[in-house]
Amino acid sequence: MPVISFANAKGGAGKTTAALLLATEVAARGKRVTIFDADPQKWISKWYELPRKSPGINVVSEISPASITEQITLAAETSDYVIVDLEGTENLIVANALSVSDLVVVPIQGSSMDARGGAKILTLIKKLEKIVRHDIKHCVVLTRTNAAVTTRAMKAVQDFLSAQNIDVLMTPIVERAAFRDLFEFGGGLSGLDTSLVSGVGKARENASLYAAEILERAITVPRKRWYNVFKRAS
Ligand SMILES: Nc1ncnc2c1ncn2[C@@H]1O[C@H](COP(=O)(O)OP(=O)(O)O)[C@@H](O)[C@H]1O
Ligand SMILES: [Mg+2]
Repeated sequence: MPVISFANAKGGAGKTTAALLLATEVAARGKRVTIFDADPQKWISKWYELPRKSPGINVVSEISPASITEQITLAAETSDYVIVDLEGTENLIVANALSVSDLVVVPIQGSSMDARGGAKILTLIKKLEKIVRHDIKHCVVLTRTNAAVTTRAMKAVQDFLSAQNIDVLMTPIVERAAFRDLFEFGGGLSGLDTSLVSGVGKARENASLYAAEILERAITVPRKRWYNVFKRAS
């Protein structure tokens, strides 16, 4: 079933948060999700060890550049969704994961550094499309936006993206304590203790709209399997 990867060549763009929000939303709808934790910080693997659980989610943290395409392809056969959280750089694991993705989500914060990190991934996707000989569907989600105002930097990022005809989700991921707190408490947003975490209701609404937009775009593309496409690439 669909493979959705989260990539931005810059760290701190909100990839891990966006990946976990999607996974917990989808699992809350009764789907089986496999998350590949290819972020060396291993935030999602640490989240998985917390006592509060999100049933239906399995996390794989042992990943190698040579095996990732095969691991992802096999997981896609037994999971409803495969979600891949990538490192904030361009490396072999990133290239391999993107090459087998049905959808690449590029989280971008309202900063020009983030937009440049996102642009690097968009360029990499164009190169990979020539190698794998099919389109790699992709979209941008704006992250850590302010619920009340659009900053000048955010406006500049939006203008930059629309000038390049990039598909940007209508729903940004708003800056919310609840999204950070998931990594402390474990599990998903539903049932978070509202006496400990503020704004859970608004966070749930935001996460649900965001996930719905991703799911509309995440459709499995039937194609030949690609095993170890870039095993020897530099
Ligand atoms: N929507 C959000 N609301 C609040 N904090 C966020 C949000 N998105 C990211 N963060 C925080 O920003 C930091 C970087 O986010 P993270 O998801 O780890 O980015 P990346 O995986 O791209 O490095 C983390 O401390 C995370 O908790
Ligand atoms: Mg990360």
